[in-house]
Amino acid sequence: MRMYDIINNKKNNKVLTKEEICFFVDGYVKNEIPDYQVSALLMAICLNDINLDEIFYLTEAMINSGDTIDLSNIDGITIDKHSTGGVGDKTSLSLLPMLAACGLKGSKMSGRGLGHTGGTLDKLEAIDGFNINISDMQASDIINENNFIICGQTLNLVPADKKLYALRDVTATVDNIGLIASSIMSKKIASGAKNIVLDVKLGSGAFMKNLESAVKLSETMVNIGERFGKNIRAIITNMDEPLGKAVGNSIEVIEAIETLKGNGPNDFESLCIFLCANLLEMTGIASSLENGEQIAKEIIDSKKALNRFEKFVELQNGDSKVVNDYSLFKQAKYKADVLSLNTGYVHAINAEMIGKAALVAGAGREKKEDNIDYSAGIMINKKVNDKVKDGDVLATIYTDNQNKIEEIKAQILNAFKISEEKNHNAKLIYGIVTKDGFIPYKN
Ligand code: URA
Repeated sequence: MRMYDIINNKKNNKVLTKEEICFFVDGYVKNEIPDYQVSALLMAICLNDINLDEIFYLTEAMINSGDTIDLSNIDGITIDKHSTGGVGDKTSLSLLPMLAACGLKGSKMSGRGLGHTGGTLDKLEAIDGFNINISDMQASDIINENNFIICGQTLNLVPADKKLYALRDVTATVDNIGLIASSIMSKKIASGAKNIVLDVKLGSGAFMKNLESAVKLSETMVNIGERFGKNIRAIITNMDEPLGKAVGNSIEVIEAIETLKGNGPNDFESLCIFLCANLLEMTGIASSLENGEQIAKEIIDSKKALNRFEKFVELQNGDSKVVNDYSLFKQAKYKADVLSLNTGYVHAINAEMIGKAALVAGAGREKKEDNIDYSAGIMINKKVNDKVKDGDVLATIYTDNQNKIEEIKAQILNAFKISEEKNHNAKLIYGIVTKDGFIPYKN
């Protein structure tokens, strides 16, 4: 078999065989096939697409390129969630304790932030002492005691995705549904949980910019998950404004804790409740979505989820006193309000622009080796459809970089679209995709 022929086949819009797909993934991981040939194939895939069988074989070949996690020693129902990435997305921090309080078990592997989106691991490391490097032994002990962990990747999971993603990133071949689906699903399947909820983001801050493509990506991932025997569904949710109000690291952790205390921003709290309800229904703990939502609310009201969070921080060596004393987080040196120049309603808040502003404030990294300032970030004060008057505070900047404040202010003002009328199309949840297709959701 020759890589040249595989590229040529895809260029001529032929369906690749399982053998051809395994050949290229295997050869690339072993450094036997050069970047330039794989780049050519990725571009041909972007132009001519791959069908569901090809996506399945690609996912399978990527999983087989590395280790997989065996959760069979965990007694109970295993769950996992994944978000396709957004700004202000601290969902795992609140959702995992909620699910744990309902008796579901999760071993969530998270990543670091790069560019305008934040990473769960960075947020957690804003807590003094928090340890994201958990050995297999510790992981089972912690899960048996508190039902969940959130950690970094210790095993060599899906090395093919690391190489392919890095190449896609620099060859303009990220935004293909088959490639995104195989990239995400290979990591989810390798992580071992039986029940999976995918939070597919739609909007200015997301990969998917329209409903049609978000549905297609969701259907593709659900189909692949089903073929691997998973109980899976995708929820399509809004990213036409940052999720919640906090965008940064420590301020996002505080917002996640506040949500578990029952004081979260409406959109973030509703999303956590909805995702929790879906997993409760899928695993048979709830009899319906409504029943699941009721259980999720009770778990917040009773503080059971908050107690799980506190225990989680303690078991991963973090200072759990932060839960009741936010002054224990590093504080930013400077705080500056961004004032509205117009009167009207917030129509949209470009999430990507806010993410970039938070990056300039110090909350993220442009290059892998950059340091993060955990106290830096943006606190949104006006959300979509809020009424705003000239001079009202739209957002507050937290930073140690005094000389960047004017630049950040300009970025934030640019991100806010204010209009005379409310945005009647704004929705938090667009719909649910199961193996039976897309069901629109009435918010
Ligand atoms: N997230 C991933 O993990 N992979 C993609 O290709 C896109 C988003």
